[in-house]
Amino acid sequence: MSPPEHRIIAGIYHLSKDLGRHFSLTDINLQVTNGEFVFLVGPSGAGKSTLLRMMYMDDRPDSGQIVVGSFVSTRVTRRTIPGLRRKIGIVFQDFRLIEDRTVFENIALAMKVTGTPMSKIKQRATKILTHVGLYHKRHDFPKALSGGEQQRVAIARAVANRPAILLADEPTGNLDAVSTRNVLELLFKINAGGTAVLVATHDIEMVQSFGQRIIYLENGRIARDHEKIFVGDVRDRMDESRVSRRAEQLSEYDIRDEENE
Ligand SMILES: Nc1ncnc2c1ncn2[C@@H]1O[C@H](COP(=O)(O)OP(=O)(O)O)[C@@H](O)[C@H]1O
Ligand SMILES: [Mg+2]
Repeated sequence: MSPPEHRIIAGIYHLSKDLGRHFSLTDINLQVTNGEFVFLVGPSGAGKSTLLRMMYMDDRPDSGQIVVGSFVSTRVTRRTIPGLRRKIGIVFQDFRLIEDRTVFENIALAMKVTGTPMSKIKQRATKILTHVGLYHKRHDFPKALSGGEQQRVAIARAVANRPAILLADEPTGNLDAVSTRNVLELLFKINAGGTAVLVATHDIEMVQSFGQRIIYLENGRIARDHEKIFVGDVRDRMDESRVSRRAEQLSEYDIRDEENE
């Protein structure tokens, strides 16, 4: 159940970034509101990863501004970055789990560094692992899991501290079709729970069937920004087959807003 008002969770304002002679991001403007799901698509080299890196403030724009929660890119310092990272969950193509820690420990560690008490860690890790369908693998090491399972653990870890927004950079880039589907469904499910999600991917065809908002990045510029297809209220304006496919996906989850139509 998401609150009705639209609050900007992440805002990018007139961002430009020069990356040498051959590439620059130019006058990027985009806002992600609370509870929103956004695909950021564009061919390889379009600047998706660079833009995400600036959103989690691992890099700075040359000009313009990024605001995530109460953090502003022109004002963040080394001291405020850890606080910012708690507000953002990040998922990468290559999972980046700690190989010599179990599934459970990978998730527990993320909460430990934010000072969560052990009793709370156990309770929440159990809940999250159940949510991603991997509680039975909690004592396994990452290497014993399939790619899709590892990515689901990485996603569980990314949301362990209840971030306001989850950023995923090519989260399905290393996965087969079935695992890709599972990972995307998990991201939809997390979004349905109220977390804003931004997924960067080069796979334009894949994302077009989901009815979510799609932002197209081409040569470092936003070429198009297509709104989400809302199930219900604008049904009459939309292609029926796309809407019903999305409605099917949504009906698997308990989304009161959508079911009250
Ligand atoms: N640190 C960097 N220094 C110079 N060029 C870079 C750097 N990071 C990325 N690039 C270049 O910027 C462009 C955009 O890269 P990237 O953001 O990784 O695109 P995408 O994620 O859409 O594939 C590419 O041409 C890449 O080679
Ligand atoms: Mg990339």
